[in-house]
Amino acid sequence: MIRILPSLLSADFTQLASEIASVEQGGADLLHLDVMDGHFVPNLTFGPPLVESVNKCTALELDCHLMISHPLRYVDAFAKAGADWISFHVEAEDDPGKVIDALERLGVKAGIAINPDTTLYRVKPLLPRLQMVLVMSVFPGFGGQKFIPEVLPRIKELRNLGFTGEIEVDGGIDARTAPLVAEAGATMLVAGSAVFRQQDRSAAIAGLRAAASGVRS
Ligand code: DX5
Ligand code: ZN
Repeated sequence: MIRILPSLLSADFTQLASEIASVEQGGADLLHLDVMDGHFVPNLTFGPPLVESVNKCTALELDCHLMISHPLRYVDAFAKAGADWISFHVEAEDDPGKVIDALERLGVKAGIAINPDTTLYRVKPLLPRLQMVLVMSVFPGFGGQKFIPEVLPRIKELRNLGFTGEIEVDGGIDARTAPLVAEAGATMLVAGSAVFRQQDRSAAIAGLRAAASGVRS
């Protein structure tokens, strides 16, 4: 089953409640929240207070993508704020095993994100403990970047390594690239510009879902 996750990063921040309602009513499966610290990535976004506010105005599960240097310090706060899924980067400074311990203790679904130029072997030993692997298809930090096709084989490689959890792909997903990642085995598709930069959010989400399922929209 393919799930579509609009990324709030591309929404109009002056109208957050109605932006969220538009994708919830438009068929989004989860909401993807990009947390950036200006250190792990050269951009800053938001933290737990905004996640808490978002949680109050939607029934959608929240998928928090932590692009931060010290995830271990903050996972408690994001879980308390209402995150249902939390992914952190294997390249971050903390011991990934300890971060997963914390996520398990908090009862949050655990994901590890991996940059396009990081070897998959860094996540291999952690796979049995993960509900999700987030394969970055751009270098993290900004919405609206171009999909990097060279990451496609890693989706299949993850399956070859025996990973049976969710594979999320993030960056440059649109109606052209969605079928490529779905065909390779991705199950959760993040889309920022391809949803929030479109007038009709229902049509955008339906179009991505149809493209990923190999159906012409
Ligand atoms: C990039 C973020 C993405 C971003 C995707 O660092 O992790 O979630 O919002 O945006 P698009 O879909 O526009 O590439
Ligand atoms: Zn993201």
